[in-house]
Amino acid sequence: MPLHNHLSTLVIVLLLLVSVTANSHNYENQYDPSLIQNILDYGAVANTSSKDLDASRKNGKALYDAVQAAHSSKDAKTVLIPSDSSFAFMPYAPMVGLFNVTIVLDGSLTYYEGDMNDWTPSNFSQDPNRQVLDGIVIDQSSHITLTSSSNSGGVVFGNGNRWWWSNIRHGTPRPNLMTIANSLYVRMEYWHLHDSPRWTANFYDVAHVLIQNCTIQVNIAAQRDMLAQHNLLSESTGLPTVPLNTDGFDIAGKNITIRHCHVENWDDAYCAKPLHQQSNLSTCTTDLLIEDSSITNGVGASIGSVPPHKHVNCIANTTFRRITFSHPIKAIYVKPNPCPHGPAIDGTGIIHNITYEDIYADKPLTWPIYVGTQQQKQPHGGADTGCDFFYPLPRTHCPTYGCVPVTRLQLRNVFMERALWAPGLLRCNETGPCTGWEFTNVTIQSESTFPSRTRNFLCHALQDYKFTNVSVGCQEEEVEHKATIADETLTAPMTVN
Ligand SMILES: *[C@@H]1O[C@H](CO)[C@@H](O)[C@H](O)[C@H]1NC(C)=O
Ligand SMILES: *[C@@H]1O[C@H](CO)[C@@H](O)[C@H](O)[C@H]1NC(C)=O
Ligand SMILES: *[C@@H]1O[C@H](CO)[C@@H](O)[C@H](O)[C@H]1NC(C)=O
Ligand SMILES: *[C@@H]1O[C@H](CO)[C@@H](O)[C@H](O)[C@H]1NC(C)=O
Ligand SMILES: *[C@@H]1O[C@H](CO)[C@@H](O)[C@H](O)[C@H]1NC(C)=O
Ligand SMILES: *[C@@H]1O[C@H](CO)[C@@H](O)[C@H](O)[C@H]1NC(C)=O
Ligand SMILES: *[C@@H]1O[C@H](CO)[C@@H](O)[C@H](O)[C@H]1NC(C)=O
Ligand SMILES: *[C@@H]1O[C@H](CO)[C@@H](O)[C@H](O)[C@H]1NC(C)=O
Ligand SMILES: *[C@@H]1O[C@H](CO)[C@@H](O)[C@H](O)[C@H]1NC(C)=O
Ligand SMILES: *[C@@H]1O[C@H](CO)[C@@H](O)[C@H](O)[C@H]1NC(C)=O
Ligand SMILES: *[C@@H]1O[C@H](CO)[C@@H](O)[C@H](O)[C@H]1NC(C)=O
Repeated sequence: MPLHNHLSTLVIVLLLLVSVTANSHNYENQYDPSLIQNILDYGAVANTSSKDLDASRKNGKALYDAVQAAHSSKDAKTVLIPSDSSFAFMPYAPMVGLFNVTIVLDGSLTYYEGDMNDWTPSNFSQDPNRQVLDGIVIDQSSHITLTSSSNSGGVVFGNGNRWWWSNIRHGTPRPNLMTIANSLYVRMEYWHLHDSPRWTANFYDVAHVLIQNCTIQVNIAAQRDMLAQHNLLSESTGLPTVPLNTDGFDIAGKNITIRHCHVENWDDAYCAKPLHQQSNLSTCTTDLLIEDSSITNGVGASIGSVPPHKHVNCIANTTFRRITFSHPIKAIYVKPNPCPHGPAIDGTGIIHNITYEDIYADKPLTWPIYVGTQQQKQPHGGADTGCDFFYPLPRTHCPTYGCVPVTRLQLRNVFMERALWAPGLLRCNETGPCTGWEFTNVTIQSESTFPSRTRNFLCHALQDYKFTNVSVGCQEEEVEHKATIADETLTAPMTVN
């Protein structure tokens, strides 16, 4: 064979290789088009402005109809949102009772950016006070896959900016970017979720879920500029003085793995939420594993908050491992909630057997490790816990409660450096003390003792704990602590970058 024939064969082989690697499983080419439910065949309109109400509604309906068609079809179970196209989007209705449907997001959904009053009202919500429908809602379904043809994935632009500001100013109800509830065997991968109006990926009472290779981003710079313009950033900390509630992953359920994901936001990044004895699929959030993932900014790999409940709110058997944090606001964050009326009236909760292993954090901006009443001021949510952000500075308060004890908390191989605050608060209550904790090989390098005035953890009602190779000790909180600190002006040594 002449040389140029060899060369052209080689070129063809190379081209084939390139196209195979670029599109590992290209749904647009791989299948008979009659087996694909393309949203364009259901009236979707591509590439319009995100302020186009008519297109947003058509696209919401097209996705809904394509998904229903896939559910009903014997063979054509795959819905395609085609590549290189952007779809203005507003949800049509919750997608309920689906079985065996795959949604392939190759292009992008971009949430409607016109008048917020036009957004689809909700007839589905865990919370009766929330009057808008979340962007994508899947309920009471099983064998659902959200994926993409290419490893670069598909994007959902939540376009949350207007909602953030309107919520602060007027308490305007705002949608989560997606909610998957009461569902089994769900996989989500290669989806990228940006700028959610409220929480981003809300998985509630689900089981057997795998989430991998996903990213969540909230435009921190946009939020900070918006808050700064309206004097809503704390002068001393550079942190928001109002909650934005743009959580990353919020997960309640059993047998759930999240891996190879990244979250960049300004609220809980990976957050286990409780279930109770009357939940549908599990009586407790359990067997939750979050591994090989990272966080930029964010308020931690968190547990809770866990409000006491008469049917016992519960999170157990949860592991975070190989997690890397870059300048987190908090890193390890476990938050039992108050029971001001006591357990007989308010109920109880369980936080048991939580493991953090192989954790690295660079430059935590506030407490590297925080276990105790969550620090939350919630002007519109009514969830004020009475716990000051700057506790234990003079004249600050943060009561503890015994209804949700934290038991068997395990920390192994934790290294945190350049922390701007003291190492941490570990605060339980004598009426329901924390027991069975084991910290092994934990190093916290803090650059200050702010605001606790100690290089140790400040501890309260922690019993039978075992620390092995832990760089800092547990200093009992003095009962008269607040009174003994001289009233002085303190400047918090920190900024958010
Ligand atoms: C889902 O549908 C596909 C296509 O018909 C089929 O091959 C597969 O077995 C189904 N999966 C389940 C769990 O029924
Ligand atoms: C959207 O625009 C892109 C870029 O111009 C184009 O490649 C794509 O085909 C368009 N989508 C549709 C459905 O027309
Ligand atoms: C919500 O509204 C949609 C669209 O109008 C309807 O199909 C669905 O049945 C409603 N769901 C409930 C729970 O009312
Ligand atoms: C856990 O969930 C995975 C799906 O992510 C599933 O394959 C596995 O069978 C489930 N394990 C159990 C014990 O149900
Ligand atoms: C996706 O996750 C897998 C493991 O689940 C990992 O091996 C792979 O590198 C990731 N791919 C990309 C493109 O990030
Ligand atoms: C349980 O499922 C039903 C629908 O079957 C739903 O109405 C209810 O809200 C669910 N309960 C919880 C706690 O999710
Ligand atoms: C936690 O795991 C242990 C050991 O596998 C098991 O016995 C226990 O029932 C689990 N707890 C919950 C709430 O699922
Ligand atoms: C604690 O939870 C882990 C999973 O996170 C599980 O492997 C282990 O068996 C549990 N241990 C106990 C004592 O329940
Ligand atoms: C512990 O709880 C009891 C009962 O609610 C309360 O009186 C006490 O002040 C709490 N202790 C702290 C340190 O908050
Ligand atoms: C202690 O943790 C560090 C990471 O922080 C790790 O490199 C080291 O191997 C661990 N030591 C032991 C004895 O496990
Ligand atoms: C504790 O540190 C010592 C000295 O560095 C080391 O030999 C030992 O293996 C460590 N133990 C654990 C449980 O990490």
